[in-house]
Amino acid sequence: MKHLRNLVDLNVDDFHTILDWSLRLKASLAKGHRPDLLKNHTCALVFEKASLRTRVSFETAMAQLGGTALYLTGDAGWRERETIADFVRVLGEYCDFLVCRAFSQSTIEELASYNALPIINGLTDQSHPCQALADILTIHEHLGGKLKGRQLTFVGDGNNVVRSLARACGYVGLRFRLASPKQYQLPEDFIEELREGPPLDFDQDENIEKMVRDADFLYTDVWTSMGQESENDARKRAFAPYQLNEQLMSKAPERCRVLHCLPARRGLEITNEVIDSPKSLVFPQAGNRLHAQKGLLAWLAVENNYLASAAPITNLPR
Ligand code: CP
Ligand code: NVA
Repeated sequence: MKHLRNLVDLNVDDFHTILDWSLRLKASLAKGHRPDLLKNHTCALVFEKASLRTRVSFETAMAQLGGTALYLTGDAGWRERETIADFVRVLGEYCDFLVCRAFSQSTIEELASYNALPIINGLTDQSHPCQALADILTIHEHLGGKLKGRQLTFVGDGNNVVRSLARACGYVGLRFRLASPKQYQLPEDFIEELREGPPLDFDQDENIEKMVRDADFLYTDVWTSMGQESENDARKRAFAPYQLNEQLMSKAPERCRVLHCLPARRGLEITNEVIDSPKSLVFPQAGNRLHAQKGLLAWLAVENNYLASAAPITNLPR
């Protein structure tokens, strides 16, 4: 059974297929076509943390593909009424997909280990693969598909979003740079894992100007992720010099564009002037969560034999 526990579950071809199908489904939607590839299928969602984009874009994706999303709230008893093992095996009797947002990556691994139904990681402490798919889709569109050798610089915390993004850059030939205080940079064991994936031109440094000067894209995220609230004060102090503001933008090339996964703490990691500037791709980027997830759901449907062939997708014009 195919899951999306994190991007390691995709090889380079899979990644490109999902991008291609996302673009086709997006183009179809723009023309008013909503192919019902997942008619009569259901996707359950269980979230341990807050969400706007991930929840609403998956629910909308299922509706547009002709299926139904089931958002499970507290009364479903997640982690309280029964074990994770029983919970997921029961869902496997009814549903076709499960999207889970969990505090710990190990929860996603456990859910997937039963092979009861395809599990989609909707964010953990370690990863945010659906976000990375939408981010690369956004960059692909902006560059007209010519991504090789261009540079994405993330300014801020070496967090879950960064880990997935760095790996995704390797799939499409983007250089990845991280500007972050030493203690918040990516650890050596993760860099080792990155080296086992597709070749990636990677560097990280405390020196912001060095990381930013050749950037085609500057990306940032909150300094304090969900679950880290007790570290908020220390993080605010450590990241203060890493704010994405107009002064920092002036150190990057004129062509540089701005990305943020949202939600944003305006006035902390990014200023209003930057997030609302003509150089910001932040809202189309959020919009692309929908299209990337439709591509992902379609790919999982084909891989798990819910669809007899990929033809209904590959026949859609781009
Ligand atoms: N970017 C993102 O995942 O947003 P939500 O937390 O609102 O889902
Ligand atoms: N790094 C953030 C991303 C939110 C989409 C968090 O985990 O809270």
